[in-house]
Amino acid sequence: MSGIQNVEDKPGQHAIFMVWGIKDYSKAKEVVTQICGELDALVRSRLNRFPDSELGAVLGFGAKCWLQLFPGRPIPPELVEFKEIKGDKHLAPSTPGDLFFHLRSTRLDVIEDLAAVISLELSEVAESIDETKGFRFFDSRALLGFVDGTENPEPPDAPSFARIAEDNVGEDFFDGSYAFVQKYLHDLKAWEKLPVEEQEKVIGRRKFDDRELADDVKPENAHNVVTNIKDNNGEELKIVRANMPFANPSKSEFGTYFIGYSGKFSTTRRMLENMFLGDPLGNTDRLLEYSKAVTGTLFFVPSAELLGDLAQEE
Ligand code: HEM
Repeated sequence: MSGIQNVEDKPGQHAIFMVWGIKDYSKAKEVVTQICGELDALVRSRLNRFPDSELGAVLGFGAKCWLQLFPGRPIPPELVEFKEIKGDKHLAPSTPGDLFFHLRSTRLDVIEDLAAVISLELSEVAESIDETKGFRFFDSRALLGFVDGTENPEPPDAPSFARIAEDNVGEDFFDGSYAFVQKYLHDLKAWEKLPVEEQEKVIGRRKFDDRELADDVKPENAHNVVTNIKDNNGEELKIVRANMPFANPSKSEFGTYFIGYSGKFSTTRRMLENMFLGDPLGNTDRLLEYSKAVTGTLFFVPSAELLGDLAQEE
C-alpha cells in the first residue's frame, strides 16, 4: 500500500531495519517529535517523485523510550521490554532498542535516501544499535531456500491481525501495532548437509513448489506446526510477518530478519514460546537447530493519526 505506519504491507523488494538507542531522553524529545511530524511528508515527497517506489515507513517506540518521552500519556497495555525466553536448548535473547524504523520499497536508493535523512537528524541525540538491509531473494525465499510468507494473512483480513482492535484498548492505541523484531543467523553449512526431504520436515512445506506437507507427514517439531496456534474457541491466531533475508557472504553471515506485526503481542509471544520452549515442553522448533536468534526487541507502532498527535507534544 505504501505510506506511513501501514504495518500490514507486503515485505517488498528492499527493506532497511534500523534500531536506535537514545543517548539523553530530555534532549531527544524535540528531535523525535519532529521526526514524528515529518515522516509523512518525507514519504509523500518521495512517492510523488518516484511513484513506482511503493515506499513505506513504519516508526516504533520501545517501552522505556515511550515512558521517558511521553510521561503524560498512557502506556500501550502490552508494551514491555521483551523478556528473554530461555529453554534447555535455545535462547531468544532480549536486546535494547528505543526507536525502530522499517523502511521498504521496490528501490534501494529511495530507502537509503530516507534512512540517511532520518539518521542525520537522529544522530544528534541517539546512536545506532542495529541496521540491517533486507532483500527479496528470488520468489520471496528465506536464504534456507524455502518460500517465506505464504500463510501470512492477506488483505482485507491482514489489518485485523496486524493492528490493535478498538475493543482491545482505549482510543489512543487503536489501529496501532506491536512490532517484534528478531535477527537470526543461519548455519547454512549444516543446513546444506541436510537432504532436501529432511529440510522439508523442518519447515513443514515442500522446498521447490512450497506445497504444505500432509498432516500425517509433518513432524510435531516442524516450524509451521509449532507456530500454528489457536485460541480457546479453536480460531487460528495469526500475525503479519514481513521477514527479509540479509547477508554478508564474505563474512559467512546469512540470516533472516524476522519481523512480526500483531494487534496482540501475546500472540507473537506464544509462538516464540512454542518455538523456544516447546508445547508440550521440549518440543522445540527444529528450525532453531539451524538458526540462532541474536537480537529480540519489542516496539509499539502508533497509528498514523497518533503519530501526528505525538508530533504536537511539547
Ligand atoms: C529464522 C527465522 C524464521 C524463518 C527462516 C522462518 C521461515 C518460515 C517459512 C519458510 C514458513 C513457511 C511459509 C509461510 O507460511 O510463511 C514460515 C511459516 C510461519 N512462521 Fe516462520 N520463520 C522464522 C521465524 C519465525 C518466528 C520467530 C515466528 C513467530 C514468532 C514465525 C512464525 C511463523 C508462522 C505463524 C508461520 C505460518 C504457520 C502456518 O502455516 O500456519 N516464524 N516461517
